[in-house]
Amino acid sequence: MVLLVDDQPIVEAALRRLLAPYEDLELIAVRDAGAGFEAALARRPDVILQDLNMPGVEGMEQIRRIRAHEDLADTPLVVLSADADAQTKEQCFGLGANDYIVKLPDALELVARIRYHARMGRAQRDRDRAMRSLAHSQAELVRRNAEVDAANRRLSAMNDLLGQESQEQRERIAEVAALGTKLGSAQDLGEVMDQALRLARSFTDADAGSIWMVQPEGLRLVYTQNDTLESRLSPGERLPLADVLIPRDSASIAGHVAVTGRPLRIDDVHALDPSLPYHFRGDFDRKIGYTTRSMLVFPLRDARDCVVGVLQLINARGRGRAGASPPVFTASDEAAVELFAGMASLAVERAKLVRGVIMRTIATAEMRDPTETGAHVQRVAECAVAMYDRWAAIHGVDPTERQRRRDELRIAAMLHDVGKVAIPDSILKKPGKLDDAEYRRMQTHSLLGGRLFASATTPYDEAARDVAVHHHEKWDGSGYPGRVPADSLEDLPSEMVANPEAPPMRGEEIPLFARIVAVADVYDALTSRRAYKEAWSPEQVAELLRKESGRHFDPELVNIALELQPYFQSVRARFGSDGH
Ligand code: C2E
Ligand code: SIN
Ligand code: SIN
Ligand code: FE
Ligand code: FE
Repeated sequence: MVLLVDDQPIVEAALRRLLAPYEDLELIAVRDAGAGFEAALARRPDVILQDLNMPGVEGMEQIRRIRAHEDLADTPLVVLSADADAQTKEQCFGLGANDYIVKLPDALELVARIRYHARMGRAQRDRDRAMRSLAHSQAELVRRNAEVDAANRRLSAMNDLLGQESQEQRERIAEVAALGTKLGSAQDLGEVMDQALRLARSFTDADAGSIWMVQPEGLRLVYTQNDTLESRLSPGERLPLADVLIPRDSASIAGHVAVTGRPLRIDDVHALDPSLPYHFRGDFDRKIGYTTRSMLVFPLRDARDCVVGVLQLINARGRGRAGASPPVFTASDEAAVELFAGMASLAVERAKLVRGVIMRTIATAEMRDPTETGAHVQRVAECAVAMYDRWAAIHGVDPTERQRRRDELRIAAMLHDVGKVAIPDSILKKPGKLDDAEYRRMQTHSLLGGRLFASATTPYDEAARDVAVHHHEKWDGSGYPGRVPADSLEDLPSEMVANPEAPPMRGEEIPLFARIVAVADVYDALTSRRAYKEAWSPEQVAELLRKESGRHFDPELVNIALELQPYFQSVRARFGSDGH
């Protein structure tokens, strides 16, 4: 919409005639400066056409006033004047006018200029909005970090309490406490759950275990481990992610613990007293080919003591201890897990904060569908971590290092496209193919993302920077942005139209995490439906991976991805499957 501010009716009539053939250019006209200012505020025109010589407020004064108003400062303003004097023009530009047209111009030229200014104005608004929301989420991150610190303090206070625990359990509890503090180091929710379950299983010697989370729609199975099933896999294979949602009620064992907030210790789930409200549902066992017998089930609570999840340990193996046959969980196990569950709760709570901040940061990119954006990054992260795990196994990376690196990778992978916040919506949300200039602009998201971690101080920042900057490099050196010096990132303008020239980066020069995310990202992009293309089938994607092995992708990682394809498909089933 175009707002004309001119005291002469004849100018309005002429403009209406000029613009009549262009249906998309709606014109509103007012006769004096005051009405012009009000209309600009109320209607937010795409472009203001401002006459210079008017009764009352003078044109120049009007420009100054518009530019001084916070809400109008960026509205494109075109001066329309009979005066062709160079000095007047210069004054107008000096006051912040975007253009100066001598009346009455040729229709084509006028329309072209109006369109140009409307487009530039929109692009500017998109960028401002993205930058504002990013600044907002960084402020939030700082605030959340303070909360995380508080959670950490509670964790160590809990450790101190241990000194007062009863004599007989002391040794065991000291061991559990030491394990609990290990949870303090992982940041990402997936890693915390993985480690919590692994540790709890190790000191109770449980064959399997699950973590359930309370969600609005019920109790969701978010994590499982199972030694028996894992031992049946061939190398390079991985247990598929399960997608199980049960009602949050007392009909199931996990549900009952979530509802009552009290732990359960069960010797045999197949011999439950029928008068109990909960019973064992065998369907899941049958589906995965497993037999559950004993269980030790604990609530996980948040800082306000609400039950947020359930930790379920399955099938005691009773290694190194005499006792029941088949083995069962003991009272001593129960006491140890109770303490551990308290620590795990805090670690989970803290990791949920971190995850929440990441999700909000990504959401500022306001991609087509924010929920799908979240799902996309979670899928990329899950697949990337699975690939790293396999790579680490092949290369003999030691378990402690492996755990630390997985945590860094998961967070970095979720942030790989965070630079897209600086890309105008007109490009980011374009429904069709990008043209060359738009694509070059789009490519700057790598460096712009890296810029956010330019002053990397922690291994997390470094991993996030490597991945953001280099996830579009190709193994043969034909990707982007190339070998950009890390210390030049900070100086990049936020409105680059193209990446600066840089020497190509190829092969193992490309950081491992970036090579991994490159495969995971393209895999996920291709198996997703986009506004401009259908989802590819797993076979088509496998074919592309093979074809691009040694060209786009690291050949070793292509092999790993091909082995993991069934797992990748389960990740897609678990985290949504359409759109981007
Ligand atoms: P994205 O959609 O997440 O895609 C990530 C990468 O997957 C792409 O990196 C590309 O390597 C690969 N990819 C995605 N779709 C296809 C496809 O149909 N065929 C093939 N062979 N590869 C595909 P790239 O090219 O650097 O693009 C980076 C980002 O730029 C994309 O992220 C997307 O957000 C945007 N983009 C690229 N091309 C277009 C387009 O034509 N239209 C729109 N609206 N966005 C595009
Ligand atoms: C539960 O009752 O906790 C879930 C049982 C199952 O694994 O099917
Ligand atoms: C490309 O083929 O490089 C463009 C990718 C896309 O369409 O997203
Ligand atoms: Fe990207
Ligand atoms: Fe992506």
